[in-house]
Amino acid sequence: MKKIEVDGLIIGGGGAGLMSAISAFDNKASVAIVMKSLFGKAHTVMAEGGIAAVISKDDNELLHFTDTMIGGYGINDWRKVWVMVKEGKNIIKFLEERGCIFDRDEKGNILPRAFGGHSRKRTLHVKDQTGLAIMRVLQDEILKRDIKIFEKTMVVKIFVKNKKVVGALAIDFVNGEFIFFQTKFIIIATGGCGQIYKYTTNSKDVTGDGIYLAYDCGAELADMEFIQFHPTCMIEPEEKRGVLITEAVRGEGGILINKFGERFMKSAKNPDGTPKYRGRFNVPELETRDVVARAIEEQYEIGNGPVELIISKNAWRKKVKELKISTKFKILVDENLLLDDKKIKEKLSSTYEQMLKFANLDITKDGIPVRPAQHYMMGGIKTDEKNSTNIKGLFAAGECSSGIHGANRLGSNSLLDILIEGLIAGKEAAKYSKKTKFENINEEEIKKEIKNVEKIFERNKGISYLKIREKMQEIMQNYVGIKRNEKKLKFALKEIKKLQRLAEKISLKDKELKGNISLQEALETKFMLKICEVIIKSCLERKESRGAHYREDYPYLDNKNWLKRIVISKGKIKKIKVEKIP
Ligand code: FUM
Repeated sequence: MKKIEVDGLIIGGGGAGLMSAISAFDNKASVAIVMKSLFGKAHTVMAEGGIAAVISKDDNELLHFTDTMIGGYGINDWRKVWVMVKEGKNIIKFLEERGCIFDRDEKGNILPRAFGGHSRKRTLHVKDQTGLAIMRVLQDEILKRDIKIFEKTMVVKIFVKNKKVVGALAIDFVNGEFIFFQTKFIIIATGGCGQIYKYTTNSKDVTGDGIYLAYDCGAELADMEFIQFHPTCMIEPEEKRGVLITEAVRGEGGILINKFGERFMKSAKNPDGTPKYRGRFNVPELETRDVVARAIEEQYEIGNGPVELIISKNAWRKKVKELKISTKFKILVDENLLLDDKKIKEKLSSTYEQMLKFANLDITKDGIPVRPAQHYMMGGIKTDEKNSTNIKGLFAAGECSSGIHGANRLGSNSLLDILIEGLIAGKEAAKYSKKTKFENINEEEIKKEIKNVEKIFERNKGISYLKIREKMQEIMQNYVGIKRNEKKLKFALKEIKKLQRLAEKISLKDKELKGNISLQEALETKFMLKICEVIIKSCLERKESRGAHYREDYPYLDNKNWLKRIVISKGKIKKIKVEKIP
């Protein structure tokens, strides 16, 4: 085992991790970053459509704050929301000064686009490659600093003594060795846990490690029942499952139609005859993601699928002919608001290319079949507005930290969140490290943990983790998806517990550490199973429907009893402690 002493360890190489490292370093802390993937290869690039910030004359911070609170159904941590919206402009300046130049109009003014739930056009973008453009800036900034990067390295344990961080144990899969990082602070920035679902936009690496590690060392988790399904993803064919079609397509005028050519979100009515969906800018497709995802899913439930997303004038005209769409449905679509080929290639160049190359679909001629897929976790590690947790020296930033988005996140708020939270976590952690000494750890404790990992090698015959992983994804998709109820949730809990027991019997053929992807995935699977249990317990607890948490057996918002957050932590002997806070 190698031992490395550094003030702070950042776990995660996405936007939040890189920003945390930059900020901690600039505040005079020595830092190292560990990531399971390669430097620059992160899920952050999946936020294609843009970053929200107040820059237009008709906009202001209070409006952005209010939209975010309404989008989160009022249970966001308002202090954190306020910090985020207030810092938006500075973050944009930081990015542009370093070469991330947002798209502009002919006069040179930044040209934001509309996104669901935002009452103003405030989603700044670099075509439909915004996450990627931001990652490039952050990578450059990291390389300018003396920050050590450990690629293909996975943290398996965070050590805590007297509720204070001591260090972390990691497996370096490049050199095939264990590393113990002795640290004063740790910032967790590992993103969400999309891989617990069968259909997710999240890459293979997004397995909620940080959320598990935090829980395991005694940190509190919150809002775990709130899981965002991005409305427009590809589900079929199998190899395309989870491909995300950016919300920018709807922001630029894209419409959703069912198999009859009906723009179902426009035609839907309440029992009193009023429009069911209004959306922002009078565009029903720009309702918040929880609402759009449910509306699409319902079309599939009643046999009206596939649902198609159409952005092109030509594609719409073609559909009208092909389906012989009736006048009743034709008047639901204003052709002038759809784009011509030139505009599509200009504004949505990535989507155009991706669809052409990967799905053999020309979006200037055809619609894209879409269905919701898991995209984001509103819940995660409970942090305050300094991004610290209930464990001294443990901080969290970005998607793995909870609070900002409440019950539902507005699109494009995540790129802002990761940068602001990273900035704050890094600064606060560095401040904390100045007044803290390294704690000693009994080496036996580390050895015990190494043995714990190596136990998996001792079994010659056992169960394949792949089967367990697949089963877990099926259960979560089918029973803890967009619509939940007590029966489904209880069944899911029982099945997940069974899988947890099976996971104790996982065996691996490859017994080396070096390059052992199976070991990484087997450990991830165990972590994810615990997260599933926490999610299901939170879902069972919340007996109402709010944002992304929809209960068929409690279909209404219950502000009288449920303006509360559910907080989960490790209880005594394998038990999970569930609390509610206002
Ligand atoms: O649709 C998208 O471009 C995703 C953006 C986000 O999750 O914020």
